[in-house]
Amino acid sequence: MVSSIRYVLFGVALTLLPGLAAAQDVLRGQALAERWCANCHVVSRAATTGRSDGLPTFPALAARKETTAAMLKGAMTATHSRMPDFQLGARDQDDLVAYILSLRPQ
Ligand code: HEC
Repeated sequence: MVSSIRYVLFGVALTLLPGLAAAQDVLRGQALAERWCANCHVVSRAATTGRSDGLPTFPALAARKETTAAMLKGAMTATHSRMPDFQLGARDQDDLVAYILSLRPQ
């Protein structure tokens, strides 16, 4: 009896884990974006307006059809004009991409 409950709990944990990991990546990506990108970009999910200088907001980037993980990584590793080279590690890039793509309208 007790052991069968254990199996059920184990199964529940296994199904929840990938979702939890993804949510953590998004949160970590959000923290990175606030730290490294918010100087220039509007990074907040709630942003309704961009900046007067026309820089893409992260929600606007996410909403573009042509935005892909590969394109985002390319943009954040190249020194895009005026943007410093952050030397982001692979995990930071992945988490930033996870955050930006999480802003995509459903
Ligand atoms: C110092 C200012 C600055 C910072 C900080 C900055 N960016 Fe940018 N970013 C820009 C500018 C300016 C553009 C507009 C495109 C250009 O001029 O190259 C841009 C454009 C982009 C684009 C769009 C490229 C395209 O194809 O439209 C992406 C994606 C991007 N930034 C990601 C990031 C991420 C992720 C971070 C944080 C790690 C970041 N940026 C931090 C200045 C900045």
